[in-house]
Amino acid sequence: MGLVPTMGALHDGHLSLVQRGLNENDALVVSIFVNPTQFNNPDDLVKYPRTLEKDVDLLKSVSEHILVYAPSVADVYGEDVVSVNFDFDGLEDKMEGAFRPGHFDGVGTIVKRLFEIVTPNRAYFGEKDFQQLAIIKNMVKKCNMPLTIVPCEILREPNGLAMSSRNVRLTSEYAAAAPFIYQTLKTAKVKFGTERANEVTEWVEDQFKNHPLLELEYFVIADVETLETVKHKVENKLYRAFIAVYAGEIRLIDNLALN
Ligand code: PAF
Repeated sequence: MGLVPTMGALHDGHLSLVQRGLNENDALVVSIFVNPTQFNNPDDLVKYPRTLEKDVDLLKSVSEHILVYAPSVADVYGEDVVSVNFDFDGLEDKMEGAFRPGHFDGVGTIVKRLFEIVTPNRAYFGEKDFQQLAIIKNMVKKCNMPLTIVPCEILREPNGLAMSSRNVRLTSEYAAAAPFIYQTLKTAKVKFGTERANEVTEWVEDQFKNHPLLELEYFVIADVETLETVKHKVENKLYRAFIAVYAGEIRLIDNLALN
């Protein structure tokens, strides 16, 4: 059995995970649950798109044989809507963890709960949330959970914007500006071939200082294993660029393999 955990507002990025899950398993569960404990910003939780009927129709259009698990908050948490405190060996402290306190404890709590309820053999996660993927792999290994985590590549709009449930909340002005994020990542990758990591980081920060609409929260070049910020490039290590940007009140994240 495969599991694709989602918070709904499904888009083609989710559907690519669903298609892979259908191909690789006898049965596929898609969970749809807006998990309250992973939202550090209460306003973001309230405004998170909830489109269950549309999501179910979309899944039906892919296959009639998908099992949808859409629990209530009480089903999952009972009376205590709180997170477990996890130790993800420091993977949780940086980037998303630094800017969204408690976020990864919330993610760990719900994902562990879903694994216990659904008992999948494989679970599918998108690389757009690369840090989330790293902490889930860490949790599965440490807790000896009997399943395989399957990473899935980021799906992008034709203009390069990483697909996200939050994109539907972008006004047309911000939607037109947002592809700048991926364009900047792609140029950063080219620069990383010949320049030092801190020079590339400064260059990216400058691009956003001059941008009329998009506000950079962080840009980090990190080791893909430890997620530590790279100080000096080392041969045979893999690096990735991570970015978080505000487009008005919508927070967008993206990342790109650099080598
Ligand atoms: O990536 C998401 O959509 C969520 O963080 C997840 C994994 C479904 C947990 O709520």
